[in-house]
Formats: sequence, structure tokens, C-alpha cells
Amino acid sequence: MDIRRLTVCLVYQLFLVILIFRRTNCSEPNRRNTKANAQRDKSSKKVGDSKNGTPQKPNIIFLLADDLGFNDVGWHADGGSRIRTPFLDHLAYNGVRLENYYVQPKCSPTRNSLMTGRYVANMGLQHVNFSPVDGLCTPKTQKILPEKLRDLGYATHAVGKWHLGFSNKSCLPTRRGFDSYLGILTGTANHYTHRRRIKTKRKIAGNALYVNETPSTAYEGQFCSHVYTKRAMDIISSHDKSKPLFLYLAFEMVHSPATVPKIYQSKFNNIEDRLRRIMAGQIYLLNEAVRNITVTLKRKGLYQNSVIIFTSDNGGRLYQRGNNWPLRGEKGTLWEGGIRSAGFVHSQLMPPFVRGMANKQLMHVSDWLPTLVEGVAKGNLSDLTVPLDGYNVWPSIAKNKRSPRKVLLHNIDQTVANRRWTPVDEFYWGKASALPFDPRRHAAVRIGEWKLVTGKQGNAAIVLPVESDEELPESAMTTGWSRAVRLYHIESDPGERYNLAGAYPDRVMKYLRKLRQLQKASQKPVKILRNRQAGYANGSWIPWLED
Ligand SMILES: *[C@@H]1O[C@H](CO)[C@@H](O)[C@H](O)[C@H]1NC(C)=O
Ligand SMILES: *[C@@H]1O[C@H](CO)[C@@H](O)[C@H](O)[C@H]1NC(C)=O
Ligand SMILES: *[C@@H]1O[C@H](CO)[C@@H](O)[C@H](O)[C@H]1NC(C)=O
Ligand SMILES: *[C@@H]1O[C@H](CO)[C@@H](O)[C@H](O)[C@H]1NC(C)=O
Repeated sequence: MDIRRLTVCLVYQLFLVILIFRRTNCSEPNRRNTKANAQRDKSSKKVGDSKNGTPQKPNIIFLLADDLGFNDVGWHADGGSRIRTPFLDHLAYNGVRLENYYVQPKCSPTRNSLMTGRYVANMGLQHVNFSPVDGLCTPKTQKILPEKLRDLGYATHAVGKWHLGFSNKSCLPTRRGFDSYLGILTGTANHYTHRRRIKTKRKIAGNALYVNETPSTAYEGQFCSHVYTKRAMDIISSHDKSKPLFLYLAFEMVHSPATVPKIYQSKFNNIEDRLRRIMAGQIYLLNEAVRNITVTLKRKGLYQNSVIIFTSDNGGRLYQRGNNWPLRGEKGTLWEGGIRSAGFVHSQLMPPFVRGMANKQLMHVSDWLPTLVEGVAKGNLSDLTVPLDGYNVWPSIAKNKRSPRKVLLHNIDQTVANRRWTPVDEFYWGKASALPFDPRRHAAVRIGEWKLVTGKQGNAAIVLPVESDEELPESAMTTGWSRAVRLYHIESDPGERYNLAGAYPDRVMKYLRKLRQLQKASQKPVKILRNRQAGYANGSWIPWLED
């Protein structure tokens, strides 16, 4: 072999090694930010020192968007999307983007998991999305996130949509660990009047907005996001800095109804579709709200010692023109488009080498409780008598350490009607009832890079943004998803385009056994006490059960 061939060969091998290293490395740093980060680090060394020398616990600013599509943030905005979120992008690109991060497919379930650190299936809440007439709320069998943070000395404030139940007074935010509350108790409301209408024999459009424990109509006519942003800014401005701050802000954006002040909509006159234009405006408003809040944090001198978290509660809704490209499905389904969330953590407290990273480690919304309590606030969970399903993933977010999470139960819901078992299913798998877990049942589990989906699932469409000029690739139209047993290699196929169940029957059996085990550990769906005449008085929704 001559020298030239040897050199070429060596260079090629080195290239391969680099390629493999990059592929197996779980996170990719965003190169363009590392220089700026290195500079910023010098100025952030002194953060968190209070007068007496012991470091002050970090402030936690938790920003929860509502129904925000996976593709409807600037740092995804793929497939010809015209959505713009410049300020959110700025925070995301200078923070850690969570790119393998999951929530539940609907509003209450995600919030229940967030507040308890548990899977909804293990609390009997796998099916229910709380309605104003449901007599239940987040289980009281354990301390929830704000209670734990309050124990650690935090001032705790909740703003925005609650949707964790209010049938009993003891369910209200101020009885569940928050010092103050301003927002709607229900899952949705008119964004201007804050009234929640439901269909009953009587026509009810009750006020849903509360200040602490009292219904209030003082904000009628003001758009919800402006009310909430102002409240959040006031909380920050008047915060007593001797305490750490936990601010939980659950926006109504971009949940229906499709309304937004005209000035936000008119920024997107280049989008022809009216609903998509409103969606773009709502998202831009969300972006502006987060900017105003961050500016206030800086003015107050809290920013350097804060951890800012941004996440959606579930995927976008297609009829409302939310977009989850390149993922399959939408809100309400266990397809990736329903549960894979757009999220990031932004904090000067994280070392420069992680700021700018796309973190590809598996994470679930139930991880926030242990992550914030143990990882960020340096507390412990020894007083929680219930077994948590969440992990403290702070070392994986802030230090790029390997995540302890290998398995993620997306859900098992025996309340959903079984899927039909077709002759094709029978041909592949034999009798459904003879399998370790009956795949006619609605469930999904993630194990490492793989995902098994069974039973009836909702809308399985993969769609481009309506304003897109691009063409849907043929691979997005595959039909393997229609089988009862679907196995996907999510790592290489996030759009769930290639059902590999037939090619890996042993793997399918192994994961069905895992589902059986997870189901055994789960709880039966709770019975809901529903009273359509209750919960409404004097023009407002009210707690209607005696404690
Ligand atoms: C609400 O009150 C009712 C009636 O007293 C009680 O049976 C129920 O357990 C309470 N529910 C919650 C969630 O506290
Ligand atoms: C953000 O601040 C600007 C400037 O003060 C203001 O015009 C805008 O309405 C604020 N937006 C929100 C959502 O609070
Ligand atoms: C956990 O925290 C509690 C209260 O802050 C404290 O009393 C206890 O010693 C801690 N336990 C451990 C194992 O650190
Ligand atoms: C409704 O208003 C009346 C008159 O102000 C008051 O007496 C009553 O207690 C209120 N009812 C409820 C359930 O708040």
C-alpha cells in the first residue's frame, strides 16, 4: 500500500469514528452559541449568593403552553411553517432544548403528572380530562409540587389555567400549596370574558376566573394572556428576595376558542388560512408574554439565579391548525404528535458547555417533580409515601449525564373501547387474548429507542402546515399504522412511518410482557361523581362538594 492510499484510508477511518461518535453521543451542542456562553459564564459565577453566604435556592419559572404543536415553535418550524417565535428561540438556543421529551395527550393528565411526579395510570386518572361538573381533583394522597417547594422555603404562585379540579374547596390552588392564584379553574374559557360554557339542560356560561378563592369578573373584556402576563410581572416585581420564587404560569394559549387580538393576527397576513393565521398570532403572543416576563426577571435581579422551563401540555390540534410535523397524530392520541412536546430549560446556572444543546435523552413530564425538588431545589422526597414514576433528570439536563429513564409508560387505558382484531392481526399474532397483553387495548410504551403502540388510537394523520408549499412525502402516507400491533424505532423514525412489528416478533412479545407488568402495577380508572346541576352559582363556577 502506498503512502497516499494509506493516508486516505486513515482519514476515512477517522471520519467514520467521528461520525459514529456524533451519532451515539446523546446530545449535540449548538456550536454557534458556545463562544457567547463562555463569556456569559464569567459573569454568572457569583450568582445565588445571599447575604449570609449560603447560596440562595434557584427561582423556578415554569411556563406551560396549552395545545402548542410540536412544529409550532421557531426552533422546530419545519416543513414550510411560517410560525415565528423569535424570543422563545433565543431562550431555547441559549438553553437546553428537550428533544426527546414527553407529556400526556391531554390537559388534565399532563398537569396531574406534573404536580404528582406519577403516571396517570398509576393514579386511576388514565382516562379523565376534568370537566367543571366532575367531582374530583388531583389526588390528595401525597404532597404535590408546590407543597414540596413551599416546604423548602419557596414563595409559590400560580397563574392561569388550573384544570386540576375544583369540585371541593380543598382542591383549589391555594389549598394545594400555592400562596396565591389568579386564573381560570376550568380547562378552557372564552379568552376575553373568562366564561366557560357547557352543554346541559340549563344553558350555563359561568365565570371561571378566580383571584385566590374568590370568583372575579374584574378582568372581563381583557385578553387572558395580557391578564396573566401582568399578574406574573407583578408577582416578580413585588417578590421578597429573601425567599426563592416558584412561579407556575399555565397559559391558555393556544387552546380554543380561536381568538387573539387583531394586532397579533395581522403580523401573519402572509398566511391565507384564517385559523392558521390566528394560531400564528396566538403563538406570537405567547412569545411576547415570555419576553415581558423575562425582562421583568432581569429588572428585578432574579434572572441570573432562575431556572426557566418552557413546555407544552400536549400536541397541537389539527382542526385548529396546530401542526406537529413531522410527527403523526395530534392532541388526544398516543402517536408522537399527541405526546412529544416542544420544551426547553433556560438558566445561567447551567454550565456553558450544555447551553445551546439539543438534549436527546428520554424525559417525561412526571420527571419535573423530582427534578425540581431534588435536582434544582436540593430537597428530598423521603416524605412521599407513594412510589414516584418520575426521575430526577437534572444531571442529564444541566450536566449532560446519562438519564436514569429507560422506560416510559405513555398510557394504558382500559376505558377506551377495544380495537377490532382482524384476520390479518390473527394471521400475524394468533389469538389476541392468548398474548401476554391484549393488543386490542389502548396502550403505548417507550423502551429505549423503541415504542410499542396497541389498540385503538385517534387521528393518525401526518400533515404539513397548511401554508406550506412543500409536498407530503410518500413515506408519510404508509398504512402500517392501521394494524393493532405497531412497533416503531422512534430514534430513527419519529414520524412512526414504518411499523416494524412483523420484522421483530420477539421484541414485540417482550414489550407486550412489559405492558402486562405495567398494567398490573396500575390502578383502575376512578369512578367520576358527575352532577350536571352542581358547580354553578351566582354566575360563576364554584366548588360544589362539602369537604
Ligand atoms: C369532596 O367531597 C366529597 C363529599 O364530602 C367527598 O366524598 C370527596 O371525597 C371529596 N373529594 C375530594 C377530591 O376531595
Ligand atoms: C409586553 O410588553 C409590551 C411593552 O410594554 C406591551 O405592549 C405588550 O402588551 C406586553 N405583552 C403582554 C402579552 O403582556
Ligand atoms: C429530607 O428533608 C427533611 C426536611 O427538609 C429533613 O428533615 C430530612 O433530614 C431529609 N432527609 C434526608 C435523607 O436528607
Ligand atoms: C349567591 O349570592 C347570594 C347573594 O349575594 C348569597 O347570599 C349566596 O350565598 C351566594 N351563593 C353562593 C353559592 O355563593
